[in-house]
Amino acid sequence: MRRKLIAGNWKMNGSFAANKALLSELRAGLNPNAACDVLVCAPAPYLAQCADDLTGSGIFLGAQDVSVHGSGAYTGEVSAGMLVDCGCSYVIVGHSERRAYHHESNDLVAQKALQALSAGLHPIVCVGETLEQRESGQTNEVVSSQLQAVLDLIGVDALANIVIAYEPVWAIGTGKTATPQMAQVVHAVLRQQLIAKDVDLAAGMQILYGGSMKPDNAKELLAMADIDGGLIGGAALKAADFLAIVDAI
Ligand code: PGA
Repeated sequence: MRRKLIAGNWKMNGSFAANKALLSELRAGLNPNAACDVLVCAPAPYLAQCADDLTGSGIFLGAQDVSVHGSGAYTGEVSAGMLVDCGCSYVIVGHSERRAYHHESNDLVAQKALQALSAGLHPIVCVGETLEQRESGQTNEVVSSQLQAVLDLIGVDALANIVIAYEPVWAIGTGKTATPQMAQVVHAVLRQQLIAKDVDLAAGMQILYGGSMKPDNAKELLAMADIDGGLIGGAALKAADFLAIVDAI
């Protein structure tokens, strides 16, 4: 049985004061017997603060992006080693907002995943189709090519250390969620693609769903056979909502 992962993606939200309050509510409210791993992905300037505030909580810390470079003259970039230094164990790569606003290609996302892995981080590789792509019947092809770019670059053994997140672009921040059945179909396609790489490792890999996951729809989504957790945006900013999603497991 795969262990589930509930990951909060705070995006560009927070402040020292707000983070402190949110994390202390999460710590206070988290069921110590929660049947899943819990992760928060904070903005880079607050990672060290969050690492401090999460000490001893059992909640993992992650970042939202990473450079493809290890170090050097790359103004504004943050390396995988720096994220590890700040206490991260996960990093999101290829979020659709980065693909859309920063023109990140499948190849670049794959290189980011490789950098993360080489520093000992678990990359959370995001894939997902736009509404236009869904309506023209291209969903499977789009997500498969996004995933394949990563699979082509990393070694088979690295599968044990990566997480996939299926996030239909049309569902992110819109309040529209894929139905559990719609999401399951895509998760099964992704699982098959992973099985083609390594059947045993694929069986243990977490494929998260993201896109307007909320307390009121989490239970049905998380009950699907190939949905192994959630990547939560808006609802991760309210402790009560995030904890309710954890409890839905
Ligand atoms: P949302 O964001 O839950 O606000 O839709 C999810 C994400 O973008 O990771």
